[in-house]
Amino acid sequence: MPATVVIGTQWGDEGKGKIVDILAADVDIVVRFHGGNNAGHTVVVKGEKTILNLIPAGVLHPGRICMMGPGLVIDPEVLTGEINTLRARGYLASDAWLRISEQAHLIMPYHRAIDRARERLRGAGKIGTTGRGIGPAYEDKMARTGIRVGDLFDETGFREALGRSVREKNGYLQAILGEAPLSFDDIYASYTGYRDLLRPFVSDTGAELRAALATGGRVLLEGAHGTMLDVDHGTYPFVTSSSVVAGAAAAGAGLPPHAIGRVIGIAKAYTTRVGGGPFPTELTDALGERLRADGDEYGSTTGRPRRCGWFDAVVVRQAVVLSGVDSLALTKLDVLTGIDPLRVCVAYELGGRRLVSPPTTGTAWERLTPVYEDLPGWREPLSRARALGDLPVNARRYVERLVALVGARVALLSIGAQREQTIRLD
Ligand code: GDP
Ligand code: IMO
Ligand code: MG
Repeated sequence: MPATVVIGTQWGDEGKGKIVDILAADVDIVVRFHGGNNAGHTVVVKGEKTILNLIPAGVLHPGRICMMGPGLVIDPEVLTGEINTLRARGYLASDAWLRISEQAHLIMPYHRAIDRARERLRGAGKIGTTGRGIGPAYEDKMARTGIRVGDLFDETGFREALGRSVREKNGYLQAILGEAPLSFDDIYASYTGYRDLLRPFVSDTGAELRAALATGGRVLLEGAHGTMLDVDHGTYPFVTSSSVVAGAAAAGAGLPPHAIGRVIGIAKAYTTRVGGGPFPTELTDALGERLRADGDEYGSTTGRPRRCGWFDAVVVRQAVVLSGVDSLALTKLDVLTGIDPLRVCVAYELGGRRLVSPPTTGTAWERLTPVYEDLPGWREPLSRARALGDLPVNARRYVERLVALVGARVALLSIGAQREQTIRLD
């Protein structure tokens, strides 16, 4: 059976964690294929909240195999912490339920130091990264100087590679960024400790995944971030350092493209963004604050307040087209209760021209203005609805209008953070 990919269609935090957790009930393996602990995926089960930064959101279903594919950058300090926290709560009872690719790259302390120092030096023009070392780790991967998970198990090779890297990075940190050097001995000691903790989980995950698919295994590929943070297709340079579109899932997991049969896009019923960069429908007034408060829009990874704004159909339509989204899960519709009218961005205007797809340059992004359509709101709380018919007519009309604008049907409608606060439409 071909695999399903889940992707974010906006600037992240669309509710991927909640939806992946629900879909994970019906699969055998859940795979993360890119990014690192810049992601923060929230799952709420029986009122208990779990934030996952690295381990796939299938982990709260005992028996699911959670895989971290070759496309990831992994901070072993964060990963071992996440494993310990989950184990202390009774999850991940078997070592076999967590698989970590030996091809995934390691985030090292110098990556974090470089990420943070560069952001400080950028001043007002900063990207607003999560400070987790994601960009510098992917830089080393592409420069072919990175250290991979599998390298930890070659003691001599690891010592030599680390020595080279620490010498080079310390030179850069001191001379260019004005930072203190890092200690080789400290890094070596901590990373050999992580090696021993991670040993039971490390494998050739791509081979295991292909074998599982060949024998009928059901696979879900969990995207992180959102399409507008994609390194090629997003609001560059205000993006993350990996490819987040569905096309990247095969490579990042170690599968041929035809192994993927279905793409589910996650879209929030309004828009949020964390960090810097263009955001055409942003609300910087009391309404934006209301969305932040009602939607609890604070970063799951960094705790930063999320910027909030109206639903942007141009952005979601682009995500649908780029990833070949078959159906959408629309989340947080409940948060819009009481706002009337509701505005939806249907196009952009730039220099007197109407754009129905996003521009491809940073300057155009900064200059465009959104074209809005107003839709009537509703006053009833939605969180107890369990069928489409339970929703007020204006909520249904809002969903229907979004479907028409973005060009993909809605298969799941989410009206609360809990598993059961979900309406299945097919
Ligand atoms: P992700 O990064 O895409 O997994 O999303 P996050 O977990 O960072 O942010 C989504 C937040 O919204 C989390 O706190 C979820 O618990 C919450 N959430 C998800 N779906 C809904 C929903 O339909 N309604 C409400 N009110 N909250 C939701
Ligand atoms: P999930 O998976 C929201 C943003 C950061 C910053 C930019 C670059 O939870 O949706 P990075 O640390 O990746 O170099 O930062 O990308 N960003 C996210 N914003 N949700 C995320 O993940 C994000 N991952 C990265 O805020 O603007
Ligand atoms: Mg998140």
